[in-house]
Amino acid sequence: ARIRYYKFEIKYEYKSPDCYKKLAITINGRTPGPTILAQQNDTVIVEVKNGLLTENTAIHWHGIRQIGTPWFDGTEGVTQCPILPGDTFKYQFVVDRPGTYLYHAHYGMQREEGLYGAIRVSLPDGQSEPFAYDYDRSIILNDWYHKSAYEQATGLASVPFQWVGEPDSLLIQGKGRFNCSTPGIASSLCNATNPECSPYFMTVVPGKTYRLRVSSLTALSALSFQIEGHNMTVVEADGHYVEPFVVQNLFIYSGETYSVLVKTDQNPSRNYWMTTNVVSREPKTPLGLGIFNYYPNHPRRSPATTPPPGPVWNDTEPRFEQSVAIKAHKDHIHTPPRMPHRTIVMLNTQNLVNEYYRWSVNNVSFNLPHTPYLIALKKNLTHVFSQVSPPTGYNYSSYDIYTVPENTNATISDAVYRLQFNTTVDIILQNAISMNNKTSETHPWHLHGHDFWVLGYGKGKFDMYNDQKNFNLENPIMKNTVAVHPYGWTALRFVADNPGAWLFHCHIESHFFMGMGVVFEEGIERVGKLPSSIMGCGETKGFHKP
Ligand code: C2O
Ligand code: CU
Repeated sequence: ARIRYYKFEIKYEYKSPDCYKKLAITINGRTPGPTILAQQNDTVIVEVKNGLLTENTAIHWHGIRQIGTPWFDGTEGVTQCPILPGDTFKYQFVVDRPGTYLYHAHYGMQREEGLYGAIRVSLPDGQSEPFAYDYDRSIILNDWYHKSAYEQATGLASVPFQWVGEPDSLLIQGKGRFNCSTPGIASSLCNATNPECSPYFMTVVPGKTYRLRVSSLTALSALSFQIEGHNMTVVEADGHYVEPFVVQNLFIYSGETYSVLVKTDQNPSRNYWMTTNVVSREPKTPLGLGIFNYYPNHPRRSPATTPPPGPVWNDTEPRFEQSVAIKAHKDHIHTPPRMPHRTIVMLNTQNLVNEYYRWSVNNVSFNLPHTPYLIALKKNLTHVFSQVSPPTGYNYSSYDIYTVPENTNATISDAVYRLQFNTTVDIILQNAISMNNKTSETHPWHLHGHDFWVLGYGKGKFDMYNDQKNFNLENPIMKNTVAVHPYGWTALRFVADNPGAWLFHCHIESHFFMGMGVVFEEGIERVGKLPSSIMGCGETKGFHKP
């Protein structure tokens, strides 16, 4: 195994990824930032210089379990103090599994300002994947707002509440296209001929098989992705091999990564559209467009065809079906423990807490404490966060998930779930109606520090007795991010075998900001000596030695 050394300089710069000029956070001058390339079991070192003049930061390595290094998970408020302006922070961790992963800011709503990128971990030399391909390519899908994250956060945390609204554009690998002739848009801010917003193109050679790694880091949107005229075979999800299945379009939620195989077997005399569109919410954002460029056609030659519009936004059924179709590859099944030691049901609701709009789990809305959990737990600083146990369920018999909740007893809390080390934990995510739009939203839940088995999905209220009997214990896929569909439930199982404090949250930036998350603690007594570089804030001020 080798050491992979990266230097990241984080800055604000004016960028026009969709032709509209706004401040974006760049890494070494770019957004998305550089792709981290490594082989399984390599050590990755990233030296992050916070060159934001007046803003803290922290970077999370999404999908990397951080076994033995829980302090380098990069989750501000959970595993570390923020990196102050002008400071440099060194992350060092082992990438112990091959696959497609991500990195992104984990401070406030900073991710959506552009601080993100991909991590690609390949197999050690001489080993091969359970599928064949000629070339390996990756793209990150994202949505993009012209309003700053500060403005959005302020609106979300105000009375009266101000919703962030739908994104202005969709980006494929950091490129999109906003209509500069939209009324009210100053021509000094939006220039349709700016080369920064010329569409993303991927040049391919006819007659080959491409492994295309597609991931999403949207702030809000659930997406569908497709390549005009080409089928895609899904072979990897969140770093785990999938029993291959073919789709025409891929549904993808924020925080998920997939590999699909694409054969360049269409008429090679033309280019094809790559498109992404919003699903699950009524779209007000135009299609994201890229060009699938058959060599040697000109990469900027737009196809003469109309871009495929993608599936309709409000048809839940195909999204549900894709979720259910994802199973572990038959030669790569990790069998889950047969029984959990405990089950935690998590009712997801939107409700008012002291007149503020919040998202809650079992009527508790999450708030980060001022002292990071990992340090507080390890050093037994019991006064810095609530020591009560958060609720492990909701009132199943009387709660109606189809009625807008009163939930008058909802509270804001920073309490954590303490898990017995090495026990098996089941989580049932239960969706419900939200307050404003009288619909039920899709929530992609992401777990730090672990992969979990996806044991099942269902519609309506999860029934502890009957639904549990139908869990897939034969070939469940392992993932780190999974969707909970409208008015549905999703069941996960994981083993609490990674000492540390780990966030589990909705990957929608505004939902987590509004409290949609929880923290798990396990095996804190087994955590090694904390580096002093993660300290310096809250009650840990004296602990920081520069
Ligand atoms: Cu990719 Cu806690 O997030
Ligand atoms: Cu959510």
